[in-house]
Amino acid sequence: DSAESIDTDIITLSRFILESQRASAKNATGEFSLLLNSLQFAFKFISQTIRRAELVNLIGLAGASNATGDQQKKLDVLGDEIFVNAMRASGNVRVLVSEEQEELIVFPHNAAAYAVCCDPIDGSSNIDAGVSVGTIVSLFRLTSDSRGNASDVLRGGREMVAACYAMYGASTHLMLTTGSGVNGFTLDTNLGEFILTYPDLRMPIEHPIYSVNEGNSVYWDAPIQEFFQRLKMPPADENSKPYSSRYIGSMVADVHRTLLYGGLFAYPSDRKNKHGKLRLLYEAFPMAFLVEQAGGKAVNDRGERILDLTPEHIHDKSSIWLGSRADVDKYLKHIGSAN
Ligand code: AHG
Ligand code: MN
Ligand code: MN
Ligand code: MN
Repeated sequence: DSAESIDTDIITLSRFILESQRASAKNATGEFSLLLNSLQFAFKFISQTIRRAELVNLIGLAGASNATGDQQKKLDVLGDEIFVNAMRASGNVRVLVSEEQEELIVFPHNAAAYAVCCDPIDGSSNIDAGVSVGTIVSLFRLTSDSRGNASDVLRGGREMVAACYAMYGASTHLMLTTGSGVNGFTLDTNLGEFILTYPDLRMPIEHPIYSVNEGNSVYWDAPIQEFFQRLKMPPADENSKPYSSRYIGSMVADVHRTLLYGGLFAYPSDRKNKHGKLRLLYEAFPMAFLVEQAGGKAVNDRGERILDLTPEHIHDKSSIWLGSRADVDKYLKHIGSAN
């Protein structure tokens, strides 16, 4: 391609973070920037490991289960080790929650300013089939009375200072919010840098896609069964077309599509999972933060805002409905009429 089509002023994630730091009113000390750089290193390392997994016999089960009863895949355990080591090395993390660690990890870094919650490999049940998986992270800033224990993370969703996910798909994508919008980056493997590709991402206000595991239908409460029935078979008097269905089974991939195309993603509670299946601190909270910052909504089965919830235990779960504002409102209206 001709010279003028080559972008010679690319914005890397590192540059984006430093520019945001300079722009931030507070006399930023650079701690946050350092932590985000440790995060992006972890994402690059996990991405590289995932892409070589089949070649180095890393597919399959690790032979153990985690705190929420998931069978751990070898890559779950490896992703967790990579992430824990990167957070320890940053020197900036006091406490760490990981899906793959039953107990809270406390680092002996008294000067650290952050608490991190992480799902090292999201969608791992799909990983042996080559389906997109990812890493999901939520960040809290320690309060002045922090004692380096669970109270640093058993907090309301609105106290999160940042949320991001990496998705290891055809490319490795990173979606990040620090509370003023969402920015998306794509990993350039030649440079080893995440490049800004979705500046100030805003999700469509509405889109006729619903994303849910229909295999759970028989276990849902009646109002939820009726809601999806109406999306699929709109009553004659409603001049709306049926929604299309898309379900990948990796939350990161289903949420990534929802952020880019719009629509509704849901993991409702059911008779098998009374509080839903997705975990609050490292799945529902970060995805809710990102979706809201992109102009969407995120609520639970009862219509409560996800970010208004507070976990009692580090692996607490929640039902979740997230996506385009108009599509989530359809559900809220439906239960409003049902109650
Ligand atoms: P994880 O692989 O981190 O345990 O998460 C799996 C989650 C989430 O990725 C996805 O939305 C959901 O499980 C899919 O659950 P079902 O297979 O029950 O639909
Ligand atoms: Mn799991
Ligand atoms: Mn997950
Ligand atoms: Mn996981």
